[in-house]
Amino acid sequence: MCGIVGYIGTKQAYPILIKGLKRLEYRGYDSAGVAMISAGGDLNVYKAKGKVDNLIEYCGDKDVSGSIGIAHTRWATHGEPSARNAHPHYSRSHNLAIIHNGIIENYADIKTKLQANGIEFRSDTDTEVLVQLVEYIMVKKNLSLLESVQVALHQVVGAYAIAIVDKRDPCQIIAARKQSPLVVGIGENEFFLGSDASPIIDYTDKVVYLEDGNIAVIRLGEELKVISVLGEEQDLKVKTVDIDLGQIEKGGYKHFMLKEIFEQPECLKNCMRGRINVEGNHVTLSAMIDYHRQLLSAKRIVIVACGTSWHAGLIGKQLIESLCRIPCEVEYASEFRYRNPVVMKDDVVIAISQSGETADTLAAIHLAKEQGAFIYGICNAIGASIPRATDTGTYIHVGPEIGVASTKAFTGQVTVLSMLALCLAAERNTIPPELYQQIVKELTLIPGKMEQALKTNGQIENLAPIFTYARNCLYLGRGYNYPLALEGALKLKEISYIHAEGYPAAEMKHGPIALIDSEMPVFVIATRDRLYEKVISNIQEVRARGGRVTALVTEGDTQIQKFADHIITLPDTLECFQPLIASIPLQLLAYHIAVCKGKDVDRPRNLAKSVTVE
Ligand code: AGP
Repeated sequence: MCGIVGYIGTKQAYPILIKGLKRLEYRGYDSAGVAMISAGGDLNVYKAKGKVDNLIEYCGDKDVSGSIGIAHTRWATHGEPSARNAHPHYSRSHNLAIIHNGIIENYADIKTKLQANGIEFRSDTDTEVLVQLVEYIMVKKNLSLLESVQVALHQVVGAYAIAIVDKRDPCQIIAARKQSPLVVGIGENEFFLGSDASPIIDYTDKVVYLEDGNIAVIRLGEELKVISVLGEEQDLKVKTVDIDLGQIEKGGYKHFMLKEIFEQPECLKNCMRGRINVEGNHVTLSAMIDYHRQLLSAKRIVIVACGTSWHAGLIGKQLIESLCRIPCEVEYASEFRYRNPVVMKDDVVIAISQSGETADTLAAIHLAKEQGAFIYGICNAIGASIPRATDTGTYIHVGPEIGVASTKAFTGQVTVLSMLALCLAAERNTIPPELYQQIVKELTLIPGKMEQALKTNGQIENLAPIFTYARNCLYLGRGYNYPLALEGALKLKEISYIHAEGYPAAEMKHGPIALIDSEMPVFVIATRDRLYEKVISNIQEVRARGGRVTALVTEGDTQIQKFADHIITLPDTLECFQPLIASIPLQLLAYHIAVCKGKDVDRPRNLAKSVTVE
């Protein structure tokens, strides 16, 4: 997500801030900015869209002097990526500047109140709301910066890591965190700030990791002080960082892919935040409110996507057809764009893309648009070409995905498709209210169940070496788990270079069964659902031909172990959400097999993260 850097000391801040921003580049971002207080007392804020290099170029002829400063790389959540929405944000008087990671959930309410008090906003961000609120409190109540931050943080709901400076007090940075990490580095008469330790480790190994709800008062010439939002002084837990840069960037994980697999419970919470109410029984998507008529008049839905996003689309089709009773087709964007498809005026086309830049998906959107369809995007990268080309849409908000093999984007896409299907079903009255509420509730429980599924990591790591010899693998599933079989196979192919195929389990006897022998690992998603007994029969068919079965089963299952060589047990959930849970062991399996084979997991050969060419 976003990156924070700060410096206060006796050196020039700008080079330290820029070097720190470059260190944070691995997180992915869409814009960057810096703020320094010059010796003359000016608070200079400079921002640029795109890479840190653009910011450096922009600052080329500017006054970047000053030995106190804050800097930020932004991954947009509220407001398109632009210099205007980039951080730092000034307060109304230009006395304060803030940088922020996280999401202020009640920003709209606060903004309305501030606007009613005559405050004008210069950006579309939730962050600017916070700095305006702090200044409003400062002026209205005649409080210090620290006191105003304390009062303001009481009023905001959401997650944040912030740093704020006041040009009238160039010896102080106030920083605070809740659910977003923040680290203070302690040097000789200087302090550093970072959203992780990577911008700090060049200068000092003494750091304090701020804890949730704490505020750091960083004053030049004084000891670092950490207090709670209520003002109680906290013990200073100074730690020594003894980790290399690569480790920090990957949050201690060996690869980005593993980190991203483990991030999924948190990502899905972010994806649902503000969309499912706190009681967990109602879903609201802003696109549904803004484009109610267009979405409700859909006679047919066509999903266009590529790769993993296409697999998420196949799950979306089943959700949409079974919950909303709207016919739904799923098309490879690359095929759709060239095959003269029938697109009707009352069609809604859903384009799914993690990167938001996939050339084929973009071309499919343009084609469908020309023919009069209404276009809905499901993307991760805010403000990318695809969300800009669509009529409306929903971001999955899972944060930058760095590993080439898509993991958290897949589960984020399925989550958004689930929420969309639930919204449409409620509006169309195609499912009873009790069932609607039961499904919404279950969706909110998925992050917890994913945590449980992640506990299979050790077992899967031990199993992985058994499969490294394989030249071919088969993945089987039925119903909602069939697209997951395709996704499991794609993950293995991409990063281990083992040929793998996904099949609907019952279709196996129409051909692929001929391939089965004792050298062919077969992974079967056999979780408990309507087709459970049938999948058991399919497993027996594999066993009868000497195939080696690894089955993903629901906890409490006693039947499948009789027929499988290995079983991986997963928490129970509704049939439609099984792919969200069962994707975890399949991602881990592909990951550990690839690691055992010594492959470059995050950067597999011949692949690119963003496929911007046909
Ligand atoms: C998934 O692991 C792949 N790297 C790939 O199939 C990807 O999903 C596909 O290229 C589509 O990308 P997009 O979601 O960014 O459009």
